[in-house]
Amino acid sequence: MPEALSTVITRHPACPSTHASDVALPMHPAVGVAEPPVARRFFLAAIVLGLTGGALWGWLLLRQIAGAGSMTAPRLHDVNAHGHIQVSGWIGLFIMGFALQAFPRMWGTRLSMPHVAWAVLPLTLLGLACVAGGQWAAERSDLAVAAVVSGGVLQVIGGVLFLGVLAATYRAARRRPVPADGFIAMALVWFLIQAVAGPVHALRAMTAASPEALVDLVATWQGSLRTMQVHGMALFMILGVSLRIMPGMFGLRPIPAARGWTALGLLMLGVLASAVLPAAGRLSGSHALFAGLLPAWALIVTGAALIVLPWKPWQGFPRRDRSGKFIRAAWLWFAISMAMLLLFPVYQRVHGAPFSHAWAGAARHAITVGFVSLMILGVAARVVPSIRGWDPARLSSLRGAFVLVNAGCALRVVLQVLTDWNARAFDLIPLSAVLEFAGLAWWGASMARVLCARSVPAPVAAGAVGLHPSSPTVVRPGPDATVHDLVAFRPSVRPRLARFGLDTCCSADRRIRDIAAEQGIDPAVLVHALLHDDGPGRGTATDCCQGEARR
Ligand code: HEM
Repeated sequence: MPEALSTVITRHPACPSTHASDVALPMHPAVGVAEPPVARRFFLAAIVLGLTGGALWGWLLLRQIAGAGSMTAPRLHDVNAHGHIQVSGWIGLFIMGFALQAFPRMWGTRLSMPHVAWAVLPLTLLGLACVAGGQWAAERSDLAVAAVVSGGVLQVIGGVLFLGVLAATYRAARRRPVPADGFIAMALVWFLIQAVAGPVHALRAMTAASPEALVDLVATWQGSLRTMQVHGMALFMILGVSLRIMPGMFGLRPIPAARGWTALGLLMLGVLASAVLPAAGRLSGSHALFAGLLPAWALIVTGAALIVLPWKPWQGFPRRDRSGKFIRAAWLWFAISMAMLLLFPVYQRVHGAPFSHAWAGAARHAITVGFVSLMILGVAARVVPSIRGWDPARLSSLRGAFVLVNAGCALRVVLQVLTDWNARAFDLIPLSAVLEFAGLAWWGASMARVLCARSVPAPVAAGAVGLHPSSPTVVRPGPDATVHDLVAFRPSVRPRLARFGLDTCCSADRRIRDIAAEQGIDPAVLVHALLHDDGPGRGTATDCCQGEARR
């Protein structure tokens, strides 16, 4: 029996029930020593990029826009460099970190080729710095094109390694696909497509033969690229992960498989059509193709609604947690952004301009900051403490960050649309970025504190939080208890979960019996190992299954 397992489960003199040494235990890949959270570096890098290349650079762009009184005042390459850092850095690195950390747990296995996974971050970071740096240096330095090409290659290599590690891990899990897997697989397909298309589009924009050719290129392809990045990669990943972890995290009803697969089909059709039709319409000159955009967006809304509506995000979730408000607000912003897209033709008719950059940009900001970023803030507010063994209930509610980001996003969306009607709206628009920056920095500091902490704060005993082991709200930890029940019964379990490849977000609703079956051990032994911190050199005596450690 490997060292890790024997140190975790040994005979405890005070507890007569069965122990590892009584039972021959086949080794399961998920059991082992607590691995350093691979996500930590990805999350920290994403936070730094989201604050700098995202909100701060965004603020500088808004100051230019306010100064010139025009939404198109900043250089296209600067805007797209900001966009590249946000899509590949802020969103992309969060997706990568979360996937490498949580997917093996969600699939009941261990990460394959962890040494390869460690190479993904430096490759991706260097790549996106070169691409964004090259875009910023366009028409300013002869090295710009070379930077974008080499950066693009590095990013694609990093992306392919990332996908290779996930594919090997999924294969090792030998599992029957469920809708959540379908969504995640499609999100990763969009991830790879945009990882190639992003730098290629940047290169073509930087080498366009004339300003007219540049405008034509942007009008034909940029919208499709954004659709693949946001409605493809980000939305599919959010729906896939939500299907898997929201029921356990918030006590929500699991979505039936048939409904999940139907939603996936509708969303794939909708996103594919809304990515292809604009480019096909411009290239073929057939404007009829643009008419297909409305039904395509309607398919996206229907597909997402099939999954989200049963969870009633307009009311509080059954299981309360500080992350809940972020996730509910994110779905509200998704609805606002999709409504703006569906109303676009009406708005254009009322406004009378052939294309409103203000309305299109506002709808995009509602989905990139309102939906995707708030979703990241919410999921991370739960995941980061749980991968570090901290109790989220003992951390700040982050209400201030929540209010600032929502207020900033609302101000941006409303003022940006108003710029189509009153030029004075430009004056206040940079303030929106200040609020968003402050909110993101508040949340980012709280995440960094937990991610960089050297130790886990001492857990609160069940009694201390008024939860007596025999209280009716606490389920006695038997084989049919879930990980969530075990933690509610004895918070000191939390830091020990990682040793068994578990945590309180992806494994919250998993039953001990199922986990033990997967790991090939007796459920009672697993309950004991989780409830009793009797690893070597701990020198504690536990009162088996009856309560907290006595010194
Ligand atoms: C947090 C605060 C942010 C600020 C202040 C900000 C600001 C801006 C500004 C001023 C523009 C150019 C004007 C326009 O097209 O509307 C822009 C464009 C863009 N932003 Fe942001 N942004 C922020 C966050 C984000 C986030 C989180 C994303 C995530 C993906 C993002 C992605 C983009 C993209 C892709 C574009 C280019 C749009 C295009 O294709 O034309 N931004 N942003």
